[in-house]
Amino acid sequence: MAVQISPSILSADFARLADEAARVEDVADWLHVDVMDYQFVPNLTLGLPVVESLLKATSTPIDCHLMIQDPDRWAPDYAEAGAASVTIHAEAAKAAVRTLRAIRAAGARAGLALNPATAVEGYEDLLPEIDMMLVMTVEPGFGGQRFLDIVLPKLARARALIDKHGGEVWLQVDGGVSAETIERCAEAGADVFVAGNAVYGADDPARAVAELRSLAERATPPA
Ligand code: DX5
Ligand code: ZN
Repeated sequence: MAVQISPSILSADFARLADEAARVEDVADWLHVDVMDYQFVPNLTLGLPVVESLLKATSTPIDCHLMIQDPDRWAPDYAEAGAASVTIHAEAAKAAVRTLRAIRAAGARAGLALNPATAVEGYEDLLPEIDMMLVMTVEPGFGGQRFLDIVLPKLARARALIDKHGGEVWLQVDGGVSAETIERCAEAGADVFVAGNAVYGADDPARAVAELRSLAERATPPA
């Protein structure tokens, strides 16, 4: 299980996205892009045209997190545009299997996200259809929120289900991940860490990524 860090540009300067992407290019595994539509979450960010421009502006693979009401309609377009990973929310998808398969067919990794109140057990049968499970550690919609400790037992249960399934499914955490919380996430079994405020709120985002990585690597995942 290799630790991967995915800085979220939600906490970056939206008027200078290419420069902000460049600040973490040498150290980040992914660039996390939060697409919000003011329907699934009470916030609005950016959509496909901005992602298409970002893809041309950075060599870091793009990790698209779709917090939108109709992922079945839009997710395949992000994959076709060249996003290397596209994650849809279980609570929003009406045809999750079809959409996850369409993401993979377009050449991207398929991710399934679960809100804090969504139980993981109902999604065990979908594990063969996904490359990554995203366990939200805040209610989605905004950066800089406080990490929800109550999600940690679910994170550990997600890790156990993934290990039982035996596939190569990555386990991502997103929301309130920082130097204070990342070790607990790693200990519960997460291997892909999204961080917005902890990276772009720092004076030196690249150094913040390196520090988060070493904290996660030092933490012991479940046996
Ligand atoms: C929130 C987004 C996150 C956000 C995390 O709904 O999905 O990706 O950028 O921001 P921090 O790390 O500041 O909590
Ligand atoms: Zn996100």
